[in-house]
Amino acid sequence: MFAKDVWYIAGHAEELAPGAVLGRMVAGERVVLCRANDGSLFALEDRCPHRSAPLSMGELVEGHLRCPYHGITFDPAGHCVAIPGQEHVPAGWAIRRFPVIEKYRCLWVWTGDPERCGDQSSIPKFLELGEAPYVSRSGRIPVDADYRLLVDNLLDPTHAEFVHRTSFGSSDWQAARGPGEAPQSATGEFEVDMRDDGIDFVYHLSDVLGGPCFGKAFALREGVEPHARGLDIRMDVSWQPPGLFLYGIQLKPAGAPEGEALHLVNLHLVTPETERSTHYFYRCSVLNAGAGDAVLDFWHDVDVRAFHEDKRILEAQQEVLGDTDLFASRPWSLQGDQMSLRGRKILAALEGSAG
Ligand code: FES
Ligand SMILES: [Fe+2]
Repeated sequence: MFAKDVWYIAGHAEELAPGAVLGRMVAGERVVLCRANDGSLFALEDRCPHRSAPLSMGELVEGHLRCPYHGITFDPAGHCVAIPGQEHVPAGWAIRRFPVIEKYRCLWVWTGDPERCGDQSSIPKFLELGEAPYVSRSGRIPVDADYRLLVDNLLDPTHAEFVHRTSFGSSDWQAARGPGEAPQSATGEFEVDMRDDGIDFVYHLSDVLGGPCFGKAFALREGVEPHARGLDIRMDVSWQPPGLFLYGIQLKPAGAPEGEALHLVNLHLVTPETERSTHYFYRCSVLNAGAGDAVLDFWHDVDVRAFHEDKRILEAQQEVLGDTDLFASRPWSLQGDQMSLRGRKILAALEGSAG
């Protein structure tokens, strides 16, 4: 069961050119997204009611979607408008239509009650970060695991020290092991705001390395050889349930003014595909990165490597879990699990209200 009355990201806008169709499973629903030549969007169930061919294998003909198998044609509202070789189209023959919009360079699909799709509160404003003047790269990584394992992961900075030791990871991030309490590390402060409808947290680390990638990103911007130099790092994280995360990071030499900071933004955009598979969309962006694309190229490479490090763990977890729920095994919970445990409660409430 997935949350229904939310907007899910079904793709990046650039994945769907005018005249193209794109099939994507979104929260257990087969959806075909279509963009007419005039740029308008529509989305229908990706299954022909004749012999169940996927309509996403078909094509757009004069703004209508034609099935690849026997050519039945549907208009943007899902009404059957033509059956080749047959004059009569039975009244009322139609397939399901899904509300779809484009916003913040993403394609959003609504799988819930269409009457309620005017509510855009599930589309967070933080997706503006990453728009110009930021420069960015986007992608999608398929993950064969329950999306909730990925949400756990993104609400749990303590894994970085072990899973991402060649990129983001270091013991500097240990402050997260005591959210809500006094700072747990000599070099950093950690604050968390756990609400009923989301979680925000922020790190302030002073004069640290923070993990191998940060010093390298900074040295690239400065055009100098990487060396072990202390940085002040601020990381702001916001979670909009069920699966949208902003990770905003600012780096500057220890003690330097704010204006010198390099801004790195990672949007982790998690959409459930099936009960055991997930679309891990991402957009990584940089601002104040100096001339050229060197910092963006570097940051993108680091991100993609790190996302695959998470994918490896998540898919292995799912393999062990099989069809059982993580909490059926009464797992141990640690001090650093407070945010992911709260996250599970929030997801359960959202899923419980699905209908
Ligand atoms: S399966 Fe679509 S027209 Fe036959
Ligand atoms: Fe990770």
